[in-house]
Amino acid sequence: MANLTPIAAIGSNLELNAQVQSILATFFEVRIFTDTDRAIDALQQEAFYAIIVDNNVKPTGGLPFLERTKKIPSIESIPKILLIEPHSKKLVEESDFGIDFEYLVNPIKRDQLLGKVSSGVNSGVEKSWEKLPTVQRKVLTETVGIFRDTFKVMNEGGAIPVKEIEQSCSPLVEAVENDQVLGLLGAVQQHDDYTYVHSLRVAIYLSLLGHAVGMKGDELLTLSSGGLMHDLGKGLVPQDILNKPARLEEAEFEIMKTHVDHTKAIFGKANDITIGVEIIALQHHEKLDGSGYPLGLKGSELNILARMGSIVDIYSALTDRRVYKPAMDPDKALGIMSEMSDGLDMGLLNTFKEFLKDATSNPE
Ligand SMILES: [Fe+2]
Ligand SMILES: [Fe+2]
Repeated sequence: MANLTPIAAIGSNLELNAQVQSILATFFEVRIFTDTDRAIDALQQEAFYAIIVDNNVKPTGGLPFLERTKKIPSIESIPKILLIEPHSKKLVEESDFGIDFEYLVNPIKRDQLLGKVSSGVNSGVEKSWEKLPTVQRKVLTETVGIFRDTFKVMNEGGAIPVKEIEQSCSPLVEAVENDQVLGLLGAVQQHDDYTYVHSLRVAIYLSLLGHAVGMKGDELLTLSSGGLMHDLGKGLVPQDILNKPARLEEAEFEIMKTHVDHTKAIFGKANDITIGVEIIALQHHEKLDGSGYPLGLKGSELNILARMGSIVDIYSALTDRRVYKPAMDPDKALGIMSEMSDGLDMGLLNTFKEFLKDATSNPE
C-alpha cells in the first residue's frame, strides 16, 4: 500500500496546480491532470480518494466535467471539490446540478483546502465501509461516530460519554469472539484521522490479544474500549505537534508525552471510567524496567492490562501508516520488539506473535 493517499487535481492553470500541489503534497500523493479527458481516463484506471477540479479547466470547464462523472459509477462515488472564482459563487450555491460536491472560492486558503480534502477522503472511506459484513461495518461506523463526538465534547471541556464509547465497542467484541476481524484493519487504514485509526487498531489488537489469552465478554469490552480511549489526551496536544509530517524533535516529544496527563484529566471529569480502562490508558507507555512514562512504574507494579497495552501500542505505532513513513512490515516490527526484553513482557509478546502468525496466514 502506498504511503500517501492518492488525490487527483485537475486544472489547466499551472500556477493554481502548483499551489494545490504545495498545500497538499506533504499529506497526500497529488496527481495533476491538465485537462479533463486525461483525468477521466486515469480516474477509471486507478484508485483516487478525492478529486479537486478547477472550474476553468480545459476543455470543458469544471461543472460540465462533474456532470460527465455522474454517468461513470467508479468516479461518481469519489468525493469532489470544485475550485471556483468569486463571481461563480452565487451560481454554484443556488443551482441544483444533481451532483454531490463541495466547493472552494479562489484564492484558496491552505487550511480550508486541507480540511475539505481530509473530510472528503474520510467520507469516501466511510462510504466504502457500507460494503463490509454487518458486524465489521458496525465496528467502524459506531466507533468513528463516537470518536468524533468524544473529541467535540473534550474540546468544549465537557465529560466524555464513557458508556456510549463502551457500547460502540461491543460489535468489536462480537467480531473478535466470532472470528470476524479479518478485513477490519485494512478497512480503517485509509481513514485520514490518524488518532482514530491508531486508537481503533490498538482496540482491535488488544481485544485479539485478550481473546488469545482466554479473556471473554466484559474483559474484552474493557480491552477494546480501553484501546479506543487510550490516547484521548492527544486531542489536547497542539495540532502542529500531533500532525507534524515528520518525526518529532526531542522537545516536541516531551510535549507529546503529556498526552497521558491530559487523558488523566479528561478521565477525571467523567465519573464512570472503569479501573481497567484507566490502567490501559494511563500506563501504556510504562515499561517493565522502569524506563517508561509518566511514572516510571516497574515490574509487578504493571498488571496484565498495562503490559498488554504497552505491547499493542508499540506494535500498532510501528505498523501504522504515517505521512512521513510507510507501515512497517509486521515481522520487522515484532523483531524490533523482541529486542526489548527488559521493557516488555516476553510471554505476552510470544502469545501476540503466535496469533498474528495465525491471522496473517489468512491474508486480508
Ligand atoms: Fe499514547
Ligand atoms: Fe497510542
